Amino acid sequence: MGLPDLPGKLSATIHERLEALAGISDAPDGLERTFLSPALERAKAVVGEWMDSAGLRVFEDRAGNLIGRKDCENPAAPTVACGSHLDTVRNAGRYDGALGVVLGIHAAEELKEVSLPYHLEIVGFSDEEGVRFGSTYLGSRFYAGDEKIPDVVDADGIPLAEVLAAHRPAFAAPPSRTLAAYVEVHIEQGPVLEAESLALGVVSGIAGQTRAKVVLEGKSGHAGTVPMGLRKDALAGAAECVGLVESEARKAAGLVATVGEIFVDSAAGNVIPGRVSFSLDIRDADDSKRRMFVDRLFQNIRAVAVTRGLDCQIGVRMDSAAVACDPELGRHLARLVEKQQGRCPWLASGAGHDAVAVAEAAKTAMLFVRCRAGISHHPEEYALPEDIESAATVLRDFLAELKPGTGAVT
Ligand code: GLV
Ligand code: MN
Ligand code: MN
Repeated sequence: MGLPDLPGKLSATIHERLEALAGISDAPDGLERTFLSPALERAKAVVGEWMDSAGLRVFEDRAGNLIGRKDCENPAAPTVACGSHLDTVRNAGRYDGALGVVLGIHAAEELKEVSLPYHLEIVGFSDEEGVRFGSTYLGSRFYAGDEKIPDVVDADGIPLAEVLAAHRPAFAAPPSRTLAAYVEVHIEQGPVLEAESLALGVVSGIAGQTRAKVVLEGKSGHAGTVPMGLRKDALAGAAECVGLVESEARKAAGLVATVGEIFVDSAAGNVIPGRVSFSLDIRDADDSKRRMFVDRLFQNIRAVAVTRGLDCQIGVRMDSAAVACDPELGRHLARLVEKQQGRCPWLASGAGHDAVAVAEAAKTAMLFVRCRAGISHHPEEYALPEDIESAATVLRDFLAELKPGTGAVT
């Protein structure tokens, strides 16, 4: 179709951009960018320049999503979005999220002179990880048209609504759009592609997840004077709950459950913990199984609290259903993957992705890239340059061939 082959080595630009983003952090050691944090805003300024040099018009919406748009000659044409997130977890790896944004811009650059039958938007979402507010997809949900603001606060007690009201976008507001499709490239974050010795795979669907915050309140007191039988130790109660989360999840084949955060109020070695909060993250491809597990777990946590004389509050911060990716778009991606590597595995994603939120508004497709040892959410996250290059070629050709809204893709 007249497009040049990508160079045999990973294009220097992709590599340099991933490196540049890896250096923009809120933390002095390690990579950390959370929703609307100073580092996220700095990253968006840099990415905005890349979008501009790829010939895209740059916009930012009220939720802080950065959007680079290539307009179609037909103003009434639908929009196809492509991207991933610019926020990260704490002490993050350099590919989770950044790869999909950088490859999207790269594809737009490659297609600069190509006339597409749709408006193309390359998006750097402002929140997929949910680190700051414990509620994920704050950026992608807004982009997909869900303007409800979850009633959540950050670690400093600042409500999300207040943070959004104070946010001043650095770019103009985007035009309205009719979203037809969304495609995202992401590292696999698991070991399957590596085990199959394949660089790329296509995602069939994404697991549903529940995130919640549990607060246990007992009575703080002097560690040296209050006899064991007279204590209401909130941390000891939380420890019992954490054990329960693990043991119950082990019995539910395929389901995964994690307590990733725990906070002890006014912690000190010689004080009985009076108030403790901890997070819950529960995932499964089967929504009814997950919801039944969650209901039972909440009952069991409340029972632990009652036995120990603790007050217990459980707040669900997010509940997102499992999402199936669009089979037709997936087959289009798979055909291009087969050209690269002979065969294309289909993978179910246990990790959450912006595609979950965008699926509310458009058909979605995801391309996974092998990552070393399946490691992610860790600084050792790594993807081979040649795998990234294959993904770049597949993404570019996918966008070049896509004919949204006609039922045909090529
Ligand atoms: C995002 O990476 C998630 O799955 O938590
Ligand atoms: Mn991600
Ligand atoms: Mn992640």
